[in-house]
Amino acid sequence: MMAIPLLPQTGIRTMHDIPPPLFPDAAPDGAAPAPGRRLRLLPQDWTAPLPDGGTLLQAAGAAGIELPSSCRNGTCRACICRMAAGRVRYRIDWPGVSVEERREGWILPCVALPDEDAAGDIVLEAPGAVRTPR
Ligand code: FES
Repeated sequence: MMAIPLLPQTGIRTMHDIPPPLFPDAAPDGAAPAPGRRLRLLPQDWTAPLPDGGTLLQAAGAAGIELPSSCRNGTCRACICRMAAGRVRYRIDWPGVSVEERREGWILPCVALPDEDAAGDIVLEAPGAVRTPR
C-alpha cells in the first residue's frame, strides 16, 4: 500500500516530519565542485562553485558568502529567496514553500540541491547576502 503524505497541498509540516540533524555551512568533506556549474547571487553578482551533494546555502558558505538562515532544515523560511534561473530539488520531502510559491520561483536554499539533470548556473535573487571574512 502506498503511503499518502499529510497536507501535501499546503506544504505544512508537522513536528514529526522535521529531520533531526542540522546541517553545517561548509560543503561536505571532499565534495568537488561540479564542473561548469555555479551559484550566482544577484544583485551583487557574486558566484560560488556548486559542489556535488551540497545545498545552495552550503555552496555559498564555502565561498565565503553568508545567506540569511536560521533553522537550516527547511522549516523557518529565514533563507527564502527567488530563483531567477536554474532548477533545484529538495533534500526533504516537504520544504516550507507552497506550490504557488514554487511556481513563482521561491526556494529555500538551506535544503535546495542543484538538480543534476539540469545544466547551467543557478541564479538567486539574494539581496540579504553578505561576504564573510576568510
Ligand atoms: S534556514 Fe530555515 S528554512 Fe532555510
